[in-house]
Amino acid sequence: MIIERHQSIGSTNDRAKELAASGVRDVCVVADSQTCGRGRMGRSFFSPPGTGLYVSFVLPPEDLSMLTVSAAVFTARAVEKTIGTQVGIKWVNDLLLCGKKICGILAEGVFCPGEGIPYAVVGIGINVLKADFPESIRETAGDIESLSGIKPDKEELLSRLIAEFENGAHASRRDILGEYRSRSVVLGKEIRVFRGTESYAATALSVDDNGGLWVSREGERILLQSGEVSIRIPQE
Ligand code: BTN
Repeated sequence: MIIERHQSIGSTNDRAKELAASGVRDVCVVADSQTCGRGRMGRSFFSPPGTGLYVSFVLPPEDLSMLTVSAAVFTARAVEKTIGTQVGIKWVNDLLLCGKKICGILAEGVFCPGEGIPYAVVGIGINVLKADFPESIRETAGDIESLSGIKPDKEELLSRLIAEFENGAHASRRDILGEYRSRSVVLGKEIRVFRGTESYAATALSVDDNGGLWVSREGERILLQSGEVSIRIPQE
């Protein structure tokens, strides 16, 4: 795999999309910081210099929810192997360590003009070293160093991440979903679902075979798809 490195960039996902659209394959874009790091649902992603790992892979097309599911599993494995502590997944795209978000994932489709084949980009932002988070996310976000007491080597983590993505490409969808479910920190929990301006309490029941989340709202079963909603686990 080719690694394209940047000290600072707008967004590694945007650069990976450019590369994908111009026909470059088997590549990942890595940056030390992003000036316009993006998250799901138009949110920005805190990407200061010196503390995080911001990586985007150009991957063959797949259903975007499944790409997010696979990326979450591969990234959780890479972090876990680096620090030796269990990493959980909060549906659909967040990795949690000690209840704090240490990583977010953003999967996006790319249409390649002429070629006609849509390609996909999966971006991963990991809070690796001690970071000073803005007030707005201080309660929910954390970094690996502060939470685990281990100061990971970012290069080693990147190598592990790439290896997990390369090896994971051969894994079956069933195995990936199985691991995603077993790492889930939401199943069986009371959660709050946010859709636009609306929010409601629900119980997280199961993850379906396409990465959707079944919840129960006052006895009614609802399937949440990742594009439109986010969830929160109220503090226990
Ligand atoms: C989220 O938490 O909603 C997803 C965050 C995804 C952030 C990563 S950092 C690398 C890549 N480039 C971006 O602009 N976003 C993703």
